[in-house]
Amino acid sequence: MAKTYSITLKIHRYNPEEDRSWIQDYHMEAGRILRFVDLFHKINDEQDSTLAWNSSCEHGQCGTCSVIVNGKPLLACELLVENAVHRFRTTTFIIEPLDVAPVIRDLMVDMEKAYEKVNQVKPYIIEPAPLPVERDVYPITPNELELYVNATRCINCFCCASACISSHKSFLGPNAMLAAIVRVMDPREQEKEERFKVLYSDQGVYRCHSTQACTFVCPKEIDVAHFIALAKEGAIKL
Ligand code: SF4
Ligand code: SF4
Ligand code: FES
Repeated sequence: MAKTYSITLKIHRYNPEEDRSWIQDYHMEAGRILRFVDLFHKINDEQDSTLAWNSSCEHGQCGTCSVIVNGKPLLACELLVENAVHRFRTTTFIIEPLDVAPVIRDLMVDMEKAYEKVNQVKPYIIEPAPLPVERDVYPITPNELELYVNATRCINCFCCASACISSHKSFLGPNAMLAAIVRVMDPREQEKEERFKVLYSDQGVYRCHSTQACTFVCPKEIDVAHFIALAKEGAIKL
C-alpha cells in the first residue's frame, strides 16, 4: 500500500480584483490519510499563499468546506487522499467551488446569498407551542422522533443544492425544503401553515424531479429525497 500518492489538484481560481478566472495545477506528494482541507493548507504553506478556500470545524460538522471534486459536491474535510484515489480511480482532481451562489474568490462562494433560499422557509420556531398541561415534554412517538432527529442532522453544507438539477432554477432547493419539513415535524412549533405554504408554493417540493442526487451526495447520509417525497404526498405532519 502506497504511503504517499503523487497527486495533481486542478483548482478553479477566481480573482475578483481582475475579474479573471483560470485553472491552476498544484502537484504534490500527499500522505494517504491527508484530507483535502489538509492539501489546501499544504498549498497555502508550501506553494501558494494566495489560494482562498473555506473551512471552520474541519470535522464534518459546520458545512463550510464544501467543494466539487471531479464533479461531486462533498466536504473537503472528510475526503481522504486514499479514498479519493480509489473512489475516482485517478490521482488528478478537478476542484471547483459550489455552484449555489456567486464565487467570491477561488473556492469561496457567497454563503449569505446561498442562505437566502434557506432563510425564506424561516428555519426557526416562529410560534412556540405551549407544553401540554401536566406534562413537561412535548408529545412525539419514537418513530416520529427518529425521523425528526434524522432530518435535523443537516449542516447546510449545500452539497445537495449543488447536485440538484432543479436548484438552479426557481426551486428553493433540497436543504431549504428539509429545513421547512423539520419545523413541520417539530412538536415545539405551533405555526405549521406558513411552512405548508412554502413547501407547496411554486418554489416548493413539486419542483423536485425525484432524481435522488441530494440523497446520494449528502455527507450526513440524510435521505433528503425521501423527506421531499413524503412532503409531496402530504405525509409530513405531526
Ligand atoms: S430528488 Fe429532488 S431535491 Fe433531490 S436532487 Fe433530485 S430534484 Fe433535487
Ligand atoms: S441535507 Fe445533507 S447535503 Fe444537504 S445541506 Fe444538509 S447535510 Fe448538506
Ligand atoms: S470544515 Fe466544517 S464541515 Fe468541513
